[in-house]
Amino acid sequence: MTQALEKNSVVAVIGSGAMGAGIAQVAAVAGHTVRLYDTRPEAVEKAIAGIVKALARLVEKGRMGGAEADLARERIHAMRALDEAKDAALVVEAVVEDLDVKRALFADLEGIVGPDCVLATNTSSISVTAIGAKMKRPGRLVGMHFFNPVPLMALVEVISGVATDKAVADTVVATAAAWGKNPVHAKSTPGFIVNRVARPYYAEALRLLLEQAGDPATIDAVMRDCGGFRMGPFELMDLIGHDVNYSVTQSVFNAYYGDPRFAPSVVQQELVNAGFLGRKTGRGFYRYGDDVVPPQAQAESAQQGAAQATLGGADPVTAALKARMGSSEGAATIFLTDGRSATQRALDEGRPDTILFDLLLDPVKATRIALARADQCSAAAWNAAVGLFQQAGFTVTRLDDVPGMAVMRTVAMLANEALDAVNQGVCSAAAVDIAMQKGVNYPRGPLAWADAIGLHHVFTVLANLGATYGEDRYRVSPLLRRKLAANPTGARIHAQ
Ligand code: NAI
Repeated sequence: MTQALEKNSVVAVIGSGAMGAGIAQVAAVAGHTVRLYDTRPEAVEKAIAGIVKALARLVEKGRMGGAEADLARERIHAMRALDEAKDAALVVEAVVEDLDVKRALFADLEGIVGPDCVLATNTSSISVTAIGAKMKRPGRLVGMHFFNPVPLMALVEVISGVATDKAVADTVVATAAAWGKNPVHAKSTPGFIVNRVARPYYAEALRLLLEQAGDPATIDAVMRDCGGFRMGPFELMDLIGHDVNYSVTQSVFNAYYGDPRFAPSVVQQELVNAGFLGRKTGRGFYRYGDDVVPPQAQAESAQQGAAQATLGGADPVTAALKARMGSSEGAATIFLTDGRSATQRALDEGRPDTILFDLLLDPVKATRIALARADQCSAAAWNAAVGLFQQAGFTVTRLDDVPGMAVMRTVAMLANEALDAVNQGVCSAAAVDIAMQKGVNYPRGPLAWADAIGLHHVFTVLANLGATYGEDRYRVSPLLRRKLAANPTGARIHAQ
């Protein structure tokens, strides 16, 4: 095991904005002497004042002792000039996201620091290889990508450029772990892990809205209550800001030479055009303000009549749902979505009264279920199916009949992207699941989730989406095909 940097060694943080301040706090709490620099001295002062407040809050909440907080504060020193970083064992750069500025900074640092000093960049979107290209010793440059807010978010993506020494990356992984973080290794590729694998969370939601599957409040509620995501995609994009989210999507799309997987959405572009950037402008998908009544998710009214329907399918999600619901027979047959619309499936299987349900993270505890009704399905069969779920304690939300519904198609695409990242050697399967849980708070790693649904089912969803849309966007990852070819019924990504 590679050793972390000595606890009492010096860590210099260059750039004292939101990220630099957070990194300085975490390093100081971990025991390092921290030197904090910014071309604007007032930014360093502001950062230190912010850290003092943050530490005081931790003490108030009983998460840190007062003496420990005082010691952490005493370890942080403002740097007046860059050459005060000369005794640093690690320099973490968190300046503006600009290749030329970062290259110039590392050129200066190479002339200041000692031969064993590790140089790290917190870039979120620039190639680590490109930043290191002009360095005398690019082997000692590594990406150390923290997530915002740094003290709260456990993930650190440790990014190796083409020239990065393995030992340097290993040291940074061990150091981040010693700071209480969850580090994962990744290769320098556009979006690294999280910003690449998370794209479908936004892209599929925007596509669902474009195709009128539901309004933002309804789709958000389904993603939260059925999928277990902490925030729905529309409220999350409103929080991030549409200018920022749209530009990350565009940069990943361009970086992958226009791969339709990452295509930006005209729906979001129009919000940017309108200046409706989300919370920060008071309007995005939602309106914000004291007098705004938040829109409610669609919910079917209570059914009084017969509450009967047949749950079909033998997949693990349906099996868990059957255990909760008990047995019932009725005119409608209800299946977990397999990527076809209910209308298509009704035709394919000669069963007009077909109803589909969307993926549930936890079929036993979920409070809401999303259903889609085939155009051929009778009102009586639909009402009886709705009543059955209501009797079992679900709020029933109807999505219009789009293929793959909301949670299933999003999770299948997240898993597909994760599989491609693994297949292309960006990171391990374990790393991608840790990254998505610790970097963006997903309730389950996308690959563990695909295992739970069954890889064959995930494959079927993607293949059906591909057949419906005829778009390369839904192409199945070669790794998924390979796993299923090797073991058609029992394939898994993670060992059980
Ligand atoms: P920020 O704008 O809050 O802070 C950047 C600071 O760098 C400013 O105080 C600025 O005065 C200073 N600065 C600019 N050029 C400098 C130089 N040559 N030397 C020293 N200081 C300089 O930016 P933020 O959000 O803290 O981001 C910093 C870096 O972290 C960027 O590369 C960004 O892409 C990355 N990042 C940002 C995340 C976020 O959510 N904000 C998440 C992960 C990474």
